[in-house]
Amino acid sequence: MKPTRSSKAWMREHINDPFVQKAKREGYRSRASYKLLEIDQRDGLLRSGMTVVDLGATPGGWSQVARQRMGRQGMVVGIDLLPLVPLEGVHFLQGDFTDGDVQEKLKQMLENRRVDLVLSDLAPNISGVALYDQARAAELWDAALDFALAVLAPEGKFLVKAFHGADFEGYVKRMRQSFVRVVTRKPEASRDRSSEVYLLGQGLKPIVSGVGAVEE
Ligand SMILES: C[S@@+](CC[C@H](N)C(=O)[O-])C[C@H]1O[C@@H](n2cnc3c(N)ncnc32)[C@H](O)[C@@H]1O
Repeated sequence: MKPTRSSKAWMREHINDPFVQKAKREGYRSRASYKLLEIDQRDGLLRSGMTVVDLGATPGGWSQVARQRMGRQGMVVGIDLLPLVPLEGVHFLQGDFTDGDVQEKLKQMLENRRVDLVLSDLAPNISGVALYDQARAAELWDAALDFALAVLAPEGKFLVKAFHGADFEGYVKRMRQSFVRVVTRKPEASRDRSSEVYLLGQGLKPIVSGVGAVEE
């Protein structure tokens, strides 16, 4: 297929992106690794011995960071619709994380461990129709939150990519109803022009009350 003007511009921007270049030099599979590294540095997410599930793991940048930061102890499970080139020390399930079969396989893999951290850098395939894409993305954040609430330990954490737009405020409200503390993060590697933002929920609320969340 002949490259279009916009695809050429995207490729030029991608090649010149300092985080893409850094990822290449430092052996990370994606520039997204630097988003998780920065959030982890600030919020101390990753510790040795944890059980981590990485939703939307391919090509593997976040799983790589999780494995490195945790050392040999603990467990990292990545899930993605697309295949993942194997990463040492990372378990992987290919499929839709909302699918019952995938969730059953995960349950078997976890062997009764509660999950300490759910990561979600999920993104839908972009159709180019803004309203449709926004709705698909919002469905994914919602499903990721349902998933996190089902598998997390009481003091567990949930880091999720969301986008400012029509569904954002409602989602923040749901996060605040679910977690004791909710903060928003916009790491340096997240492009300024992107409406992308990361929400971090910490500690499950025993009762849904909608109070107690802070923004920093
Ligand atoms: C932005 S990429 C993730 C990048 C990754 N965090 C990294 O650092 O390399 C988003 C991923 O979400 C995956 N995805 C979207 N919907 C999904 C679903 N329902 N189940 C599993 N993966 C999904 C896509 O296949 C895509 O690989």
